[in-house]
Amino acid sequence: MSRLTLISLCLLAGAAGSLAVPTKREATAEAETQPKITYSKETLTKDGEEVKLDCAVVGVDLDGVEDFGIDEENPTNSFPISANDKILLFGTKYTIDHPADSYQYSLVIKEVSEEDTGKYRCTVNFGGDQKINAEVPVHIQKAPYFTDDFTKTLTVTEGDAISIDCQPGGWPKPDVYWERLGQELPYYGGKFFKSNQLDIPLIERDHEGHYVCYADNDIGDPANSHIILEVQFAPEVVVEEKQVFAAPSDPVKMACTVFAKPSADIAWYKDDQAILGGANMKISKVELEEGKGFTTTLSIGEASAENFGSYSCRAVNAIGKTEQTIEVRMKSAPLIVKQSRSEVLYDLEKTNLRDALPVVIECEAEGHPTPDFRWTKNGAQLVWQADPRFSLEDGTGNLLISDPTMDDNGLYQCFAYNELGTAVGDPVYLLNTTRIEFSNNKDNTDLYPVEAELGRPYKLSCPEATGYPKPSLNWVKAIARESQIELEFVSDERIVADPDGNLWFTHITEDDATADKFKYMCLGSTEFEPADYSIASTIELSVVSPADGNVNSEEHSVNVETFSMYTSPETVTFQAEQENTLWCIYGGEPVPSVEWRRTDGEEMDKERFVTRNFGRTLVVKDTMLSDAGEYECRSSNGVGASKSTKIQVEVEMKPTFRSELASQTVREGATVTFTCDAEATGEVVYNWIFNGRVLDKDGHHRRTLAGNKLTINDVSVVDVGNYACNATSSVGYAYGQAVLNVIPMDRSAGGVGGGSCGGISELKKEISALRETVDTMHNLLQEHFSVSQHNHEKLHKIAESMGVPEMSTVLLINEVIGNGYFGSRGQRPTQRSSPRPRLRKGSAPYLEIPLYQGVV
Ligand SMILES: *[C@@H]1O[C@H](CO)[C@@H](O)[C@H](O)[C@H]1NC(C)=O
Ligand SMILES: *[C@@H]1O[C@H](CO)[C@@H](O)[C@H](O)[C@H]1NC(C)=O
Repeated sequence: MSRLTLISLCLLAGAAGSLAVPTKREATAEAETQPKITYSKETLTKDGEEVKLDCAVVGVDLDGVEDFGIDEENPTNSFPISANDKILLFGTKYTIDHPADSYQYSLVIKEVSEEDTGKYRCTVNFGGDQKINAEVPVHIQKAPYFTDDFTKTLTVTEGDAISIDCQPGGWPKPDVYWERLGQELPYYGGKFFKSNQLDIPLIERDHEGHYVCYADNDIGDPANSHIILEVQFAPEVVVEEKQVFAAPSDPVKMACTVFAKPSADIAWYKDDQAILGGANMKISKVELEEGKGFTTTLSIGEASAENFGSYSCRAVNAIGKTEQTIEVRMKSAPLIVKQSRSEVLYDLEKTNLRDALPVVIECEAEGHPTPDFRWTKNGAQLVWQADPRFSLEDGTGNLLISDPTMDDNGLYQCFAYNELGTAVGDPVYLLNTTRIEFSNNKDNTDLYPVEAELGRPYKLSCPEATGYPKPSLNWVKAIARESQIELEFVSDERIVADPDGNLWFTHITEDDATADKFKYMCLGSTEFEPADYSIASTIELSVVSPADGNVNSEEHSVNVETFSMYTSPETVTFQAEQENTLWCIYGGEPVPSVEWRRTDGEEMDKERFVTRNFGRTLVVKDTMLSDAGEYECRSSNGVGASKSTKIQVEVEMKPTFRSELASQTVREGATVTFTCDAEATGEVVYNWIFNGRVLDKDGHHRRTLAGNKLTINDVSVVDVGNYACNATSSVGYAYGQAVLNVIPMDRSAGGVGGGSCGGISELKKEISALRETVDTMHNLLQEHFSVSQHNHEKLHKIAESMGVPEMSTVLLINEVIGNGYFGSRGQRPTQRSSPRPRLRKGSAPYLEIPLYQGVV
């Protein structure tokens, strides 16, 4: 179709966005020549100005091209604006500027306004369907603006995620900044954040505030939009004092501070019962600054028995509910619930090692308010703060002494006090142990040869041992086996050790000769470190023929009539409630047997009376006062007459509580009696201590001290405190304590007082259970033990002399049951300085020894 060319421009929709620039590749390939079109780029203009959009074809001769034309079109509404130099639209807004003899058709838009914004298209027709398009976006500069420029309020709930969008108008597209007036922006931090979107993934209550979105594009003034963010949340209840202690008749105040949005309703409860207030109970409310919350206070005028217990304040709003509990407890004087026993020992050689644990003198007390502690040493105040080696363990009154020296030895006493009274601990000696020394004063690693006559009774003696605590002595066979030495306690039908450290043979046999097989060894150890053996002597025994040459006919043994080798003294004093023993060691050939009886014919019940060491030891467990009397052991071996020894047994009992002194809570005016229920042999003197002071026998008109009872008449709050009883006899004492609480009579409206007693006894149960656990753990620890260095060196030398030069371990393969020295229950859990399993590396010959407990 042959027609005149048209140039048209058109406005494209969605003026904003990417700029679509037609590429030259859009020019037709079949064109005989390569036409090029030039056109205006993206155009930015101001309101009211004139815009000229060029469109031209250059670099080609179009003579004779019949169909050539340039159309201009506004593609937004697809209105053709022009065809060549002809305006197709009505009006005076557009003109075409077409210089003669050119292929340029420029569209001129007069007095542009916002509605002229958009894309304009110029189409060049080369005839047929060969076309090239060019598009020119036209923008009108405009300062930023918001269509909704009022302040908006946004209400969200704590924990929500929000995203606030800010899309201002204006050209160029404005930059958007967020600000929170007067505060940093949440989540992003800082004062400004540049983004159209403000995201807060987890709303917190303090994100509340006035947020402003600023839009700026350097044209005119920036615009802004305001958002008030309100955060709602479930009540938060803050309680500063969760436990309130009060003495009876004291005023009590409990406070809860409540934060909530919307504001919360509050209610107080006691044990699930709503409190409405009353003469003795008032509820008040005080608003915090800036309406952030309020504090509600429950005040009790004068606390009486029924006011003690558990309170709660509950707050509710539309978002949720929250509650907090406050305990009102009766104040009480301190009560010592745990302390070291009479002596705390430490080993000077070990406690000054670098990693040694401090020695602990224990003192733990309960009481409200929580007691403070002080200590005296030898009766004078101990200013432990002045010595960096001393400290008090947190939360207890335990006195820790690092690196103790002999100067620290002494009598320590602990005092636990609070505003209601003072509890006094039983005094405790701090003492260093003393290493075991033997009277032979020799290098005990030398082998000591002895001779014993075959068939004849024999005794091996151990040198006397001194040390603290008092050492006990035991005999072992040291048997060399490859790279170790086995220590086997000696105790069989013929051979037994007595409690003084003598080893008795009823008669000697060839088996007793040590030769190369083993050595006899006497070992000393103390209760402090039962497994650290000191070597008293090492003996080689050879068996020789008897000097008298007497033998039975046809045999190389001679019968020996039984005779007493070692027996307990004529009169023995047993300690009640403990395990006690009687000894009868008889010699002779054949081996004699020993029988025990009571001469008064009383039964010896099999539960408590047992024998050890093949009948030679009578053991009385849990000794009772009724076990006093005369005992007899009788020995016979069929040679000559039987022999017997009578032993008079007395039982003494140091004061022992039948029942603990009990804490009491009573009403004012009542009569209180504390009973020091101690059992003992001999005379018992009762001393009473009130808040640390010994009570005079006749010092007070309302108090009576009679026998084991302390009676207080017409009690009042001045009698509140710690009461202790010291029941003393010539052989020992029992010390116990309890607290007294008094509820003023006229303030309490019925009901029985004394809620705290149950609590204390529960606690005591727990504490004693814990104590047992500690004891058990301690015993477990002792099953693995160490031999101290100097003892080990000696053992090593002996091993060498026995042909075990590379000794690596020492095995203890059985336990002496005989004299009960082992498996000692004497180690106190309070002595934390006592042996810990230790395996020394390197050259120091510290070895761990497993203890094999065999049964003899
Ligand atoms: C109890 O009495 C004994 C013997 O008189 C005394 O050694 C001990 O220190 C007393 N204990 C207390 C806590 O007073
Ligand atoms: C404490 O140790 C020293 C030195 O080892 C000793 O002489 C002293 O006897 C020991 N004290 C006690 C009470 O055993």
